[in-house]
Parts: sequence; structure tokens; C-alpha cells
Amino acid sequence: MQDSFWQKLPQPFFILAPMEAVTDIIFRHVVAEAGSPDIWFSEFTNATGWTHAGQKAIGGRLVKSIDEDPIVAQIWGGNPNDMQNLASYCRELGFYGIDINMGCPAKSAIKSGGAALIRNPELAIESIKAAKAANLPVSVKTRLGYSNISEYKNWISTLLKQDIVNLTVHLRTKKEMSKVPAHFELIDEIVKLRNEISPQTLLTINGDIKNRAHGEEIVKNHPGVNGIMIGRGIFTDPFCFRNNPKNTEKTQNDLVNLLRIHLGLFDQWQPQTGRPFETLKRFFKIYIKGFDGAKEARELLMQCKSTDEARKIIDSL
Ligand SMILES: Cc1cc2nc3c(=O)[nH]c(=O)nc-3n(C[C@H](O)[C@H](O)[C@H](O)COP(=O)(O)O)c2cc1C
Repeated sequence: MQDSFWQKLPQPFFILAPMEAVTDIIFRHVVAEAGSPDIWFSEFTNATGWTHAGQKAIGGRLVKSIDEDPIVAQIWGGNPNDMQNLASYCRELGFYGIDINMGCPAKSAIKSGGAALIRNPELAIESIKAAKAANLPVSVKTRLGYSNISEYKNWISTLLKQDIVNLTVHLRTKKEMSKVPAHFELIDEIVKLRNEISPQTLLTINGDIKNRAHGEEIVKNHPGVNGIMIGRGIFTDPFCFRNNPKNTEKTQNDLVNLLRIHLGLFDQWQPQTGRPFETLKRFFKIYIKGFDGAKEARELLMQCKSTDEARKIIDSL
């Protein structure tokens, strides 16, 4: 395994989970203002789409800036040649690593890739080999199995035999979607597999982890876990990566200020992401909550058509 930024990370390290239509360059910079993780991931980007339709297929998903250090491109697909193409392009763009999504349960994804790879280990192995040809460190993000939890023994073992730099396990099966609590009870078993099969592969745990303190507690209770990935926790608390738990008790003003920052970053980066103002609306509930009149303010924000209109509303709060 080649040496890379992964080996130089503090432990435990924290990752902002890749989330489609959420963790683009704009929102990642909001999180950087609120409290940074140690690694950034792009939204997942389809390799076959890129190979056949180029930029048009990937939109703003791979837009990044130099201060996002280190940032990993997450790719997905069902064709190893296409994976190699996209991984090479990500290297040209300056990404620090490639992560392959082998866990997305969406119908559109499992036609060829995402969680479908759990049922097609040969293709998963070929995809890892192909991505490695781009000469960047390759990691995988997956689930415990497709339908049954017990699948994890074979599936996780197969992945650990591929000499990947990091394995992120979302502690649910594809079938479970996000409808049941994450299976924290399996962490020690997974650590054991990693220690037996590939001690050099870093292990990152994902699913229902709320914030840095919660992640640190998990690592303390399950020695051997190297990293923690947080997804939806960022919606409940955009300051969730902050070091000092006291700092995460934020006031209404702190949250509204973060929305102000978000609007500014949207203006700055929108020409490159190409995403319309409407896409901002899903974020308002992160910032405008927990005070009398919050619901009404959100309703007004939802009617806005520009960042200037939105700014006027938050100025009046
Ligand atoms: C809106 C949304 C979009 C997501 N998009 C991706 C994605 O592009 N790639 C990926 O690997 N997982 C994606 N996920 C899954 C998350 O990365 C994560 O595995 C999942 O939410 C469980 O972690 P959490 O409980 O910390 O949120 C997405 C999840 C959400 C809620």
C-alpha cells in the first residue's frame, strides 16, 4: 500500500459523510466555518455518466477548491474501465484519494453500482483494481450486507483482502436503508476481522453518530476503530465537528450567522456548481429553528427567489 495522507491523520479522524445534493463545495465551506472534519468527501459521482457524457453528467459534483485539504472524490458505477477513467480525471483535478461507493441503496444506483456490488464481489474487486490504476489511494464505503446482517463476515472480509487504504462501514444492510438503529454491537467483530485480514487498512465507522464527542466515545469503547464518519448529524448540529463540546451549544444568532455565510458562499460558488437557488432551500431548516417565529421565518425563506431576498428576511429576525 502506498503511503498517503491517510497514514498521517490524527486518530481518531473525522470525516463529513458524502451526501448527494448536500456536501458540495458550498456546504463543505459552511462546515469549514462551523468546525472542520479531518477529511472531506465529494458527493458520489457516476463513472459511466462521466465516461459517456462528460461534465454534463456530473454537474457540480467534483467542484472543489485548494483549501479543501485533504479531499477524496467518491465515485460509483458498474464498469471498471469507466471507474478507471473517472479516477484518473479526479487525480487531474487534484483530489487526494478515490473512494468507491458500494452501499447506495437508491433504485437508480443499484441497477449497476452502489449496493449492487455487495452482491457482485467480483465486480467490486475489479472496480477497486481499476480505481487503483489512477495511482491515488483507494478506499471503499459500504454497508454490512445486502439483505442480512450476517453477510458482513464474507463481504467485509472480501473487501479487506483488496489492500484498500480505508474501509468505511455504514452499520446497516442495504435492505435496512436508514430505518433501524445502526448496529454498533458489530463494531468489535469488524475490528477483529480487520486486525486478522488487513491490519494496515484503516477502519471508519458510520451511522447515527451525532458529533465529535459521540464519535470519541465510540472509539474509546471499541479500540481499533480509526475514524468516524458523520452524515445527518450535521443537519442537527452544523457545529458537530468542533473540539470542545461546550462550543457546540450554539445560539440562534450563531446559526443565523451560519446561514448568512452559506448565502455568501452560494453566491461565490454557484457559477461553478451551476445549481439553482431552489437547491438552497433544503438547508434553511438547519439554521432557522428553535425560536418563536422560526416556522414563519422558514416559510418566508421558502418563498424567496434569490440570496438577496433571503438576506433581507434574516436581517429582520
Ligand atoms: C441526503 C443524503 C445523501 C447521501 N448521499 C450519499 C452519497 O453520495 N454517497 C454515499 O456514500 N452515501 C451517501 N449518503 C449516506 C451517508 O453518507 C451516510 O452513510 C448515511 O447517512 C448514514 O450516516 P449518518 O447516520 O451519519 O447520516 C447520503 C445520505 C443522505 C441523508
